[in-house]
Amino acid sequence: MLAYSGGLDTSVAIPWLREAKGLDVVAVTVDVGQPVDLEQVRRKALASGAVAAYVADARREFAEEFILPALRANAQYEGVYPLSTALARPLIAKHLVSVARQEGATRIAHGCTGKGNDQVRFDLATASLAPELAVIAPAREWGMTREEEVAYAQRCGVSVNATRSSPYSTDENLWGRSAECGVLEDPAVEPPEEVYGWTRAPAEAPETPTYVTIEFDQGKPTALNGERAPLHGLIARLNEIAGANGIGRIDHLESRVVGIKSREVYECPAATVLIAAHQALEALVLPRDVLDFKRTVELRYAQLVYDGLWFTPLRSALDAFVRSTQERISGEITMKLFKGSSRVAGRRSPYSLYAAALATYSAGDRFRQEMAEGFIYVWGLPARTWAGLSPPTPAKAAAPRELLS
Ligand code: ARG
Repeated sequence: MLAYSGGLDTSVAIPWLREAKGLDVVAVTVDVGQPVDLEQVRRKALASGAVAAYVADARREFAEEFILPALRANAQYEGVYPLSTALARPLIAKHLVSVARQEGATRIAHGCTGKGNDQVRFDLATASLAPELAVIAPAREWGMTREEEVAYAQRCGVSVNATRSSPYSTDENLWGRSAECGVLEDPAVEPPEEVYGWTRAPAEAPETPTYVTIEFDQGKPTALNGERAPLHGLIARLNEIAGANGIGRIDHLESRVVGIKSREVYECPAATVLIAAHQALEALVLPRDVLDFKRTVELRYAQLVYDGLWFTPLRSALDAFVRSTQERISGEITMKLFKGSSRVAGRRSPYSLYAAALATYSAGDRFRQEMAEGFIYVWGLPARTWAGLSPPTPAKAAAPRELLS
């Protein structure tokens, strides 16, 4: 059961698995919102020698069961990467496992190399869901260069795309697009404009701001500009709107699970806007201590997703915590999109903790300012007690006995 994208690596994997391992290959392509013609991909799998080829539409499942928990956790690896690729891998593995069981397959295969994070995610997700299934990663074993792969493909009658001329390796799904390789491998060099596929350059974006209003229900985006939409549809629409405004470009020097530092360029327009909007709603609704503690959980959550630990008890436990913080995360956030920046313009919630009568400096102030003095007296007691003692002087404490007398 091969996770098949239609790219060079997974296409070459089909004849290689037969020649090197004597295996029949069933190709499974999972639709996670990548903008490619999946029927064409399916036909290419068969043309490359697969005995069967399936396409599974998992866009709704990806949005509801993978993206949504991550959004509720504001998950961003190393504070910047919304984990688009990382979130899709366990979902793809889940589909592979279920087709493998239907078809009685004995092995799961994927096209990942031995240097990346994706192998970790596929292998660990498979191990958690189906410990009885072995995993084969041809690209980890075959030791071919890109050029040798092309030659191998030609020898086996696997068609090599004309679009192969792109020097970048990309991955795309609803939650974002990633690009690696080519000139990006020099972290001192600014990514050239041609790297980007989803976003307009901020300088070329419209001269007037675009406002979008996002409605949330318990942390889940349910409507965009007043129009209700399923989450996967809402994300796809917002990718277009925010991308046109130059939003969501991320240039990150990333710490991979396997110890390598790598330069990654992402485009995550919808994720950028939705996470900022979700955080803004949380700031309005959640008490200070919950916000503060949740930030710790969010960092851990992002790291665990990155590290390929989606199907683990820690993720379930952290999800339970995050879920319990979302009961009141309902309301509306308006974002202002303008030339690459996405800022909160307005917020509203029936559960808002913001009380004008407490916050105002104008008429109608109900805050009892005279009570502040007593509060500060008690609150500051430890600091005052500490400050009231004279500090030990290190020279005296360390001085030898004779000098003191
Ligand atoms: N570095 C990112 C991650 O680990 C992106 C990986 C992209 N994968 C790919 N096969 N092109 O999630």
